[in-house]
Amino acid sequence: MKKIAITLAILAVSGASQLLAADVTWQKDIKPVFDKQCTACHGATAPEHDEFGKNKTMWIEKGIGMRMDTYSHFITYVGWPYTGAMMRRLDDGSNLPTKKPGNMYEYLGNNEAERKANLELFKSWIGNWNTKRFKDVTKEELGLLKLKY
Ligand code: HEC
Repeated sequence: MKKIAITLAILAVSGASQLLAADVTWQKDIKPVFDKQCTACHGATAPEHDEFGKNKTMWIEKGIGMRMDTYSHFITYVGWPYTGAMMRRLDDGSNLPTKKPGNMYEYLGNNEAERKANLELFKSWIGNWNTKRFKDVTKEELGLLKLKY
């Protein structure tokens, strides 16, 4: 009887977290965080990825990164062509070989609690928090990305 109760409890918890993950969307959850924490440097007037690359030093001196403010721009830093860039930069260090946070982690929030909460939100939305580059990632791993609009 106890076993059944435990099984049911596990099913309820995992079911609930799956539901939560499925509910996270770009429009409802991610874009508002982006607008608050990232858009100052990655907004509509920021250059495309390769345009940034042409004059990296100049953009960095201005404190401007590459454009990521639309769904279409943003997901290129998750899936392809800049596979895993978002995960490597936003990770708190626990999934990186260096064990140090990625250099965009600090922008996830104004304090550690906010950063942790927003990291969990991005993780749920992305679905497969994989820091690998394109040459190392498998088709199956890419298939696990959620990225609901
Ligand atoms: C104060 C400005 C600033 C803020 C705020 C900022 N970034 Fe950045 N970001 C940069 C700059 C400049 C670069 C390019 C230099 C580098 O690679 O570190 C960059 C690089 C990146 C990259 C690497 C892209 C690549 O091609 O590898 C990602 C991903 C990223 N930022 C995501 C974010 C996210 C998500 C947020 C918000 C949580 C954010 N950044 C907030 C300035 C910023």
